[in-house]
Amino acid sequence: MQIFRDEVEKLLKKHVKDLSLLEVPPDRSLGDFAYPCFHLAKELKKSPVMIAQDLVKQIKPNKTIEKIVANGSYLNFFIDKSFKAKEVLSTIFKEKEKYGSQKNKQKIIVEYSQPNTHKEFHIGHLRNVCLGSTLINVLRYLGYQVIAANYIGDIGNHVAKSLWCLKKYHAKEKITTRKGEYLGKIYAEANKRIEDDPELKEEVDQIHKKLEDKEKEWYDLWKETREWSLADFNEIYKYLNAPFDICFYESEVEEEGKKISNLLLEKGIAIKDQGAILVDLDEYKLGKFLILKKDGTSLYSTKDLALAMRKFDEFNVDKSIYVVDARQKLYFQQLFKTLELMGFKKDMFHLAYEFVTLPEGAMASRKGNVVLFTSLRDEILVKVMEETRKRHQEWEEEKLDATVKAITLAAMKFEMVKYENTNVVVFDRDQALNLEGETGPYVQYAHARCCSILKKANMKTVSKVDFSLLKEDQESKILKLLATYENTLTETIKHYKPSLLARYALELAQALNEFYHYCKVVSEDKELMKARLLLIFCVKEVLASALQLLVIEPLEEM
Ligand code: ARG
Repeated sequence: MQIFRDEVEKLLKKHVKDLSLLEVPPDRSLGDFAYPCFHLAKELKKSPVMIAQDLVKQIKPNKTIEKIVANGSYLNFFIDKSFKAKEVLSTIFKEKEKYGSQKNKQKIIVEYSQPNTHKEFHIGHLRNVCLGSTLINVLRYLGYQVIAANYIGDIGNHVAKSLWCLKKYHAKEKITTRKGEYLGKIYAEANKRIEDDPELKEEVDQIHKKLEDKEKEWYDLWKETREWSLADFNEIYKYLNAPFDICFYESEVEEEGKKISNLLLEKGIAIKDQGAILVDLDEYKLGKFLILKKDGTSLYSTKDLALAMRKFDEFNVDKSIYVVDARQKLYFQQLFKTLELMGFKKDMFHLAYEFVTLPEGAMASRKGNVVLFTSLRDEILVKVMEETRKRHQEWEEEKLDATVKAITLAAMKFEMVKYENTNVVVFDRDQALNLEGETGPYVQYAHARCCSILKKANMKTVSKVDFSLLKEDQESKILKLLATYENTLTETIKHYKPSLLARYALELAQALNEFYHYCKVVSEDKELMKARLLLIFCVKEVLASALQLLVIEPLEEM
């Protein structure tokens, strides 16, 4: 919190120059703030460790900073407990769901989800949606103006494959529901057929060409089937509560991309190599970037050149973020470098994440052994329904359904964001549901516990709280966490790591549970009870806020 920072800065001001280095240590037991002394070493001609030791002798604690400790090359500051309790709890009580939010002027476009039509929407796509929507929520909470964009792959070889197989082998079938999913199956079948008989590839290529030439028969089929996939996707987005402000399609940037590619050739930034157009990025150790095929047809890259520019031109953004699979890392480096060579030097970032697999093995939509988002969801819904029904036989069907849906989504979404972006997610159905594990439902449960305590206690007023009564370790731990909520959000954005927010929510839920087990809330001591109820109220507010940013519903009962 700013006020604590100000207090520490007041003490430090006379002794050091660069106050911006003051940081919140990741390990909260190391104090509320830490000041690194490395940069002073050169000027003072002393080791950072010695500098920290000298400084600790010179700076004296006061009413608000109760302790200062030299720890290696760092100077660690501890805020006075009762001062902290008062500031943190009154601020949360006052600001409620706005606690930790900020104001900001920057405008950012975040592109996420980007599935391909004619293919399946699997659990790898789910990870993308969860990372993207959390990032967007946190950015907005911190005051950024955000444009949530989708970019759907509705043209290309995968479409040709799918349509070829559909027409050749399934022309007579009647499909009525989940048509997009059906197309995805056809796509996988196409791959298998081509694998068994590579000569069939020739047929697919011909269809690809016909599609690019907009030959009526194929063009119409493309238009019709494209809608099948889009309808499925939209249903999923609605279910996941992941809205978009704008949806780009690969088909609409293709022409522009071809123009840009030719322009690059004219300007000498790109070269012709055996008929194809490419940008030689060898001197930047980025290899060769192919931007147009030798038959003049477009590539993935062709379209991205146009898309990148469109985002800045149309929306006048300061920054553009792409949430895309880590396998495209080199590709995006090449893309950004090419744009830079064109004179288009903008703030662009690729948030790369690893794939999702199940304990029983990996998946590839080409091979058709993917786990669809919808099938995994339906499987989990059944499990959650069974357990929730047992716990709440008195509930009406409507309430049961809504709660089951919220728990299912919490279980799935939390797994998708709780790991570092660079870690593979091995989605374990049972583990994701564990009410005692590091899961979404566990955090929801902590929130519901707060609600139930507050309801029972029926707290009416919170005036004249004696904050000094909150002195147990479990209480201090909670206070420390509450105080660093805003910092967690800032770090989440700074490092593009929704996992930081998920971990924070877990830690707060754990701290609440520890507190609940060691400290009696409802007690004879009315003053103590009042202070503890306020503490729980604040935990509830922050848990609800964090869950909402993670696009997870904070339940009051479960
Ligand atoms: N649709 C692509 C795929 O499934 C991802 C698109 C990512 N965004 C981009 N601007 N290239 O691989």
